[in-house]
Parts: sequence; C-alpha cells; structure tokens
Amino acid sequence: MEWRRSGEWKWLWLAVSAFVMAAPDGLVSAGNVTYDGRSLIINGQRRVLFSGSIHYPRSTPDMWPSLIWKAKQGGIDVIQTYVFWNLHEPQRGQYVFSGRADILRFIKEVQAQGLYVCLRIGPFIQSEWNYGGLPFWLRDIPGIVYRSDNEPFKNEMQRFTTKIVNLMKANKLYASQGGPIILSQIENEYQTIERAFGEKGPAYVRWAAAMAVGLQTGVPWLMCKQNDAPDPVINSCNGMRCGETFEGPNSPNKPSLWTEDWPSFLQTYGDEPYLRSAEDIAYHAALFVAKNGSYINYYMYHGGTNFGRTSAAYMITGYYDQAPLDEYGLLRQPKWSHLKELHAAVKSVSLPLLYGASSTFPLGDYGQAFVFSGPSQQCAAFLLNNNTVDYESVIFRNVSYSLPPKSISILQDCWKEIFNTGKVSKKSNTRTYTTSIKFNSTQRWKLFKEPIIQYDSTKLRANELLEQTSTTKDRSDYLWYTLRFKQSQPKAKSDLNVYTHGHQVHAFVNGIYVASAHGSHRNTMYSLQTTVPLVQGTNNVSLLSVMVGLPDSGAFLERRFSGLRRVSIQGTDFTKYQWGYQVGLLGEEQQIYTAASSIRLQWGMYGSSGSQPLTWYKTTFDAPAGNDPLALNMNSMGKGEIWVNGQSIGRYWISFRTQQGNPSQSWYHVPRSFLRPKGNLLIILEEQTGDPLGITLDIVTADGQS
Ligand SMILES: *[C@@H]1O[C@H](CO)[C@@H](O)[C@H](O)[C@H]1NC(C)=O
Ligand SMILES: *[C@@H]1O[C@H](CO)[C@@H](O)[C@H](O)[C@H]1NC(C)=O
Ligand SMILES: *[C@@H]1O[C@H](CO)[C@@H](O)[C@H](O)[C@H]1NC(C)=O
Ligand SMILES: *[C@@H]1O[C@H](CO)[C@@H](O)[C@H](O)[C@H]1NC(C)=O
Ligand SMILES: *[C@@H]1O[C@H](CO)[C@@H](O)[C@H](O)[C@H]1NC(C)=O
Ligand SMILES: *[C@@H]1O[C@H](CO)[C@@H](O)[C@H](O)[C@H]1NC(C)=O
Repeated sequence: MEWRRSGEWKWLWLAVSAFVMAAPDGLVSAGNVTYDGRSLIINGQRRVLFSGSIHYPRSTPDMWPSLIWKAKQGGIDVIQTYVFWNLHEPQRGQYVFSGRADILRFIKEVQAQGLYVCLRIGPFIQSEWNYGGLPFWLRDIPGIVYRSDNEPFKNEMQRFTTKIVNLMKANKLYASQGGPIILSQIENEYQTIERAFGEKGPAYVRWAAAMAVGLQTGVPWLMCKQNDAPDPVINSCNGMRCGETFEGPNSPNKPSLWTEDWPSFLQTYGDEPYLRSAEDIAYHAALFVAKNGSYINYYMYHGGTNFGRTSAAYMITGYYDQAPLDEYGLLRQPKWSHLKELHAAVKSVSLPLLYGASSTFPLGDYGQAFVFSGPSQQCAAFLLNNNTVDYESVIFRNVSYSLPPKSISILQDCWKEIFNTGKVSKKSNTRTYTTSIKFNSTQRWKLFKEPIIQYDSTKLRANELLEQTSTTKDRSDYLWYTLRFKQSQPKAKSDLNVYTHGHQVHAFVNGIYVASAHGSHRNTMYSLQTTVPLVQGTNNVSLLSVMVGLPDSGAFLERRFSGLRRVSIQGTDFTKYQWGYQVGLLGEEQQIYTAASSIRLQWGMYGSSGSQPLTWYKTTFDAPAGNDPLALNMNSMGKGEIWVNGQSIGRYWISFRTQQGNPSQSWYHVPRSFLRPKGNLLIILEEQTGDPLGITLDIVTADGQS
C-alpha cells in the first residue's frame, strides 16, 4: 500500500482530519462515489460506514424525521431502503409518489439530516412485501417470466428502473450530483433461485448489471447474495454471520459489504418473535469489520408496519419489531445503545482500519488477533475470544486482557480497550401498554353482516376450481367458491373435504358457518375436513378462500397456484363441477370503511346473540392526548382487517397461535397521523367470532429512550 511509504502519510492525515472535522454536520456533496478493495470512496476518502434499513412505506411521513434522527444518534451513516415497485406503479404507467410512497421526501429528509442513502431499486425486492414488490399486473403480460432472460420482463424492469433513476437524477439526489445516494442495488438475492432458470439465469444477471451500470448514476451498484456479480457491480453478503459466511468480494478491487445484517428475523403468523441479543449482533458486526468489512447495514434498523394488504404471505403486520428501533420507532435497549457504542469505537479507529496494513494471528486456545497498523504510528486491534462458555485471558503486546465468552474487544492504539461486544452497559428496557380507551360497551358498536354468497347470486362461473389470485387480480384477499347440488335424503353428518393452497378457508353450508382451516408459511397446502349437515333438496355450499398476502420469494412467482384444488362431499369429487365465484366482499365493494359509505349502509345494533363469522364492526373514538404511539389490542378477536378513518392499518390474526399458545401479534399500530382529535372512525372486519367488546386502544411507552 502506497500510504505506508514514509512521507505520504502526513498528507493523508491532513486529508482525513479535514474530513473528520467536516463530517458531523453532514456532507453537502459526496462527489462521484468509487471504491477500491478496502471500502467505498466518497469525496476521495475511504469510509467505514454503518447503515440502517428504514423502509419509507412502513411508517408515516410524520415519523420519518424522528426515525432518521434516532438512527443518526445511534451512529448510523447511511439509510438503506428498497424501492417498492407495486406501491409506485399500481397500474401500469400510473405512478404514485405521495403519502407513504413519497420516496423523494424521504430521501430529502435523510439528506437534510446529513446522512447518506443506499437505494435498493430491485425492482424485485422480496422484503416480506406483497409479491416481493412486483406489481400484480405483470402477470397478465403475455409470455412473461419474472427475473429471467425474458424480453417482456426485462422491458418492464428496465422501464421502472430507468424511471426511478431518472427521478433521482431530476432531483439531484445522487452523490455525484451533490445528493445523498452513494450506493444502489439491482436485483436481490438472485443467486438463491438462479439455477431454476438454466442458462437464462446467468444471462439475466449479466443483462441486469449492464442495464444498471448503463444508467450512469455516478455511484456504484451492488448485487446482494450474488457471488458472480459482473464488474463493476459489487457482490455483497446478507445474513446474521457474514464475518464467518461471506466468501468475500469477487475481485480484489471490490470492498467487503454486508447489505443485510439481521438483528432479528421476519415473523410469520404462528411464530414467536425472533430474539437476537445485542452482544451477538455486535460480535458479528465487529468480526466483519475485523475481517476487512467496511459497510454494515442492519436489516432492519426500523422495521415498522405492513399497513393495508402490503405484507407477503402469512407475514405479520408488525415488521422487525425487535430491531434497534421497534415497530413504533421507540429505542429498543440495550440493542440501540450497544450498537451505538460499537459504531463509535469502530469510527475512532477508522484510520488504521482503512489505511493500515492488516494481519491476523492466533491468541491462546480460542483467541485471534486482527491488527491494523499504520499509517505512521496508527494501530488498532480486534481481539476475539471464540470460547462460547468461558472468559479468556490473553496477552497482547505485553498487556493482559480478559475477554468475555464469544466476544471481541476493540483496542485503540493497539492497547486501550474502548469496547467489548460482550460487555453491555445499558439495561434492557420495558415497553408498556396503557389502556386509554375500552370499547367494552355494546352501545359503542354497530355491526353489518357480510352476506354469505350462494351459487345463484354469482355471475362468474366455471366448470373447475379457478386459481385464486389470477381471478381476484389481488384486488381482494377474498374469493367465494360456491356450488349447489341436489340431495335425495337429509344427512346430518356428511363428510366435507377441501384441499387448498389458499391461506385460510371458511366453509358455510346453506348459509350456516360450519368450519375453518388454515395453512402456514411452511405448510402452504392443507385440507379442511369436517362433517356438515345436508338437507333434502338443493344444498348450497359456500367456501370463502382467503389470502393473507401473496408469496414474495422463489422462482416462477408468475405461475404460483393459490386457492382451492380439490373438494369432495360424501366421497363425491366436486373438483370438476359447476362452480360460481365472487371476488371480494360486499363491504369491500361498498368501501364500508370510509365515512361516506358507512353512512350509506344499514348498520345494525350490537345484539346479545353472540358474534357471527364475517361481521363488520363500527365505532368511533377520540384521540388520546399526547404524542405517544398508539396501538389496538386485538386479543379478543379472531382474524380480519382494521381501518381507521378509511385507512387500513393492516390485517390481524389472533386465532393463529404459536406453539406456546400465544398470538404472534396482539397489538396493531394506529399511526398518530391517521387520527384527528375527535370522532375517529374505526371499522373492523372480523372473519371469525371474536368479541369486539374486548378491544382496547393503548398508549405505548418505553423507558430508556435516551
Ligand atoms: C462524476 O463523473 C462524471 C462522469 O464520469 C463527471 O462528468 C463529473 O465531473 C464527476 N463529478 C465529480 C464531482 O467528480
Ligand atoms: C484483510 O485484507 C488484507 C489486505 O488485502 C489481507 O492481507 C488480510 O488477510 C485480510 N484479512 C482477513 C481477515 O481476511
Ligand atoms: C469460532 O468457532 C466456530 C465453531 O468452532 C467456527 O465456526 C468459527 O469460524 C470460529 N470463528 C472464528 C472467528 O474463529
Ligand atoms: C514486551 O516485553 C518484553 C520484555 O519486557 C519486551 O522486550 C518487548 O519489547 C515488549 N513488547 C512490546 C510489544 O511492548
Ligand atoms: C368498561 O370498562 C370500564 C373500566 O374498566 C368499567 O368501569 C365499565 O363498567 C365497563 N363497562 C362495561 C359495559 O362492561
Ligand atoms: C339453495 O339455494 C337455492 C337457490 O337460491 C334455494 O332455492 C334453496 O332453498 C337453497 N337451499 C337451502 C337449503 O337453503
């Protein structure tokens, strides 16, 4: 390395000092961003960067400034976000860039706070987001094969990618134009499915890289989990242990980047939250830096909320609630503080890290030392104890260090321990839900019973079981499958067997609810088996198949089958029979959740007869005082969706229990910005027999917020 030659380090030192002094209040212009084998190079300087994923549609615009500010206080330099294609282009050629989709406002807010942006355009993003971010209308393009060397797909992908890049350019948001975007991503973890496409896989990777690079953004592109990312695109790592698992950059001229360090993990209905300790996150982050990593992004730093119908199949509405900032944007301790200390420690030794010579050698039985020396007398060391059970005493340069189990100490000047990943100074904090409103009186509620659709009232007919999503076009979670048949003798207990790829099925016979069944993220095919009463004469069977988000991963998403596959009654196969269909619910068609149509429809009083499946409930409430976050405790309910002032805050599913018997998610975030002071309209669709009298609106607080 040139910088180690005598004399030249002084020049470097001046340059780095100047940068360090300029950095705290943000950099106005980053210039063209380049890279070498050590790191990204911004304004001519190598940088070690900590990044945090915050997805703009998973919070509300009024939350963005404080989320970004808290990230900055936590030592984050870069905000990483995906771009959500199906949010921005719900109909082909009709774009939405307002409200939670106001990506420009989000990026400009990051810029105003002096942080950088990593823009992961995808435009396939997975992200536990509906259909992995792909607009559903793509499926209707003839001959399309997603994410392959396929002209129809490539045309659409190039069109949208160009649209986003041009939007950024027009707003001067690339670092090369004085903006905050220093890095950008094309595709997403493609290698995991590449083989399914044969030779069209590698051809697509080469095309995607060349297409992206051809857009001339002045900042580097990356492909995550793509070991063969073509030059000059950088391959990067995703996972929890990239210091151990990453094969490294595919060229000595590319830096080692970690695009997704998961501080928790995605949670589907039926899962308990995934808990990962602050110590473990810090250990693996420090290890990655010790092994020459220079960019670590926490996925997610703030997860937020899958509002409306935006979550992918079986994903809960809260997203990465266990991140350093929880679903509501509150600091999660000690994660937030411990990582903040790690970031400060790494920054304080960034000069030897980025410009020194590195060496590594064993230290005792379980230890390892990573040493960065130079320029001049600069020195930093990372001492690792790989013993998961015991403390290790190690001698490094004549000084003794006691390293906690499975931990890394960072030594400034190669002797002063400034941080150890296993020593956590902050206590864990507690989140508290304080009930503000009880919806416990029958007078509060009005109800509207969704009609149970029978064959005679359907208009769409087919002599087979239709694939659900190509029938609904994903305009609704709900598809009625109905039939009728004649029965010569009544029979109190007849077998009903429904074999399905939908996520939940509710069965009604002659307008009466009989049974439900559901699958899970791991078992997407399942069957409903029950006995039903049949009458003499015409019997009407109505099966409501429900999707809880579209799949977001795997090859050939355009060919996935969902909905019912086989139906038999008393041993007779009705799979190839005359079926009548209705897409969606009447309440959805009437937009029952808006103030206008909630007046138009006939709402009934809340009776004492007990709740019926498929009921809409309506009430109003005043906003609790203050600015603390709010959430509805839905524990008394079964499954459905919630609207506040016409906006869906997401699906809920309390009746799907974890192995320990808990709902995966009890509280559902009601953003403050959805509310006005008085008379807020709350509409709930309950598919099962939950009791709305048990619902409460709670104020969410947590200690340890500073
Ligand atoms: C960035 O690169 C472009 C083209 O490569 C060049 O025209 C421009 O002057 C560069 N900007 C900076 C700030 O170096
Ligand atoms: C870090 O990079 C240096 C220089 O390329 C190399 O010699 C060293 O082995 C690397 N360290 C690790 C742990 O990979
Ligand atoms: C620590 O030990 C584990 C298990 O033996 C091994 O997989 C891992 O690579 C080791 N890590 C380091 C940094 O030595
Ligand atoms: C360690 O101590 C020995 C004996 O006192 C001395 O010779 C050596 O220079 C010391 N090494 C360092 C790195 O200080
Ligand atoms: C509702 O809850 C409040 C507070 O716990 C209680 O005072 C009231 O009696 C309850 N109302 C009904 C109708 O149960
Ligand atoms: C089934 O539907 C038909 C047509 O609407 C109706 O005539 C018949 O009475 C229904 N059967 C039952 C048992 O409700």
